Amino acid sequence: MAVVDIRGLRVSFGEKTVVSDAHFAVEKGETFSLIGASGCGKSTLLRVLAGLQREWQGEVSLLGSPIKAQTRFQGSLRRNVQMVFQDPYASLHPNHTLYRTLAEPLKIHGENAIEQKVNTALAQVGLPADAARRFPHQLSGGQRQRVAIARALLLHPQILLLDEPTSALDMSVQAEILNLLNRLKAEHGMSYLLVSHDADVIAHMSDRAAFMANGRIERFFDRDALVRGEHRMG
Ligand SMILES: Nc1ncnc2c1ncn2[C@@H]1O[C@H](COP(=O)(O)OP(=O)(O)OP(=O)(O)O)[C@@H](O)[C@H]1O
Ligand SMILES: [Mg+2]
Repeated sequence: MAVVDIRGLRVSFGEKTVVSDAHFAVEKGETFSLIGASGCGKSTLLRVLAGLQREWQGEVSLLGSPIKAQTRFQGSLRRNVQMVFQDPYASLHPNHTLYRTLAEPLKIHGENAIEQKVNTALAQVGLPADAARRFPHQLSGGQRQRVAIARALLLHPQILLLDEPTSALDMSVQAEILNLLNRLKAEHGMSYLLVSHDADVIAHMSDRAAFMANGRIERFFDRDALVRGEHRMG
């Protein structure tokens, strides 16, 4: 089953069209990636799928059901689609402890045993339990990225949207986080839609990928093409 199915997706800001006729499907359990130059529309496309960019045209289905433009996500979709943002510093509230940041989505969704779930989430991404008392500025970049991942995983989403999840990190931390993401994906049976401008990251993570330029999807790569490094051209 396709967990994401996009046909003829178009997003415009005023006169400017930043996503044009985008089309692809992500199968359950797959990691599908978007590559392309800065400004080609990758984050905008992910924001549509996260329900954050609500002005769009075309057909989009998530987990087998069509979604509507100009509409907030309701019910299970709100749990089942989570996003890790390009800039984890900006996406974490500076004045909230990590405990508060992680507990909030659980409270919103009416969960119980919140403290235990926060501790489990921290442990899952390799952060010590006492990190819960800290504020974002008291963490390293890699630790903040782990918090962002922990927050996205707390509600056990089926689809995780990852926007450059490691671009701010040095090589060794990057590898650690990518391996962590692969392990968590296998454990939880998730599907990933990953954005990265790094050809090595794409090759390491993806089952398939699409190359975007000027808002359009220009080319698809299957696993064999990625292994051959065809996505490294141009
Ligand atoms: N809210 C907005 N209002 C107006 N223009 C926007 C808005 N959001 C994005 N854009 C424009 O849309 C285009 C695509 O932006 P987007 O963030 O999707 O690119 P990207 O592929 O993610 O780039 P990067 O690799 O730098 O993150 C850019 O030209 C950007 O300036
Ligand atoms: Mg972006």
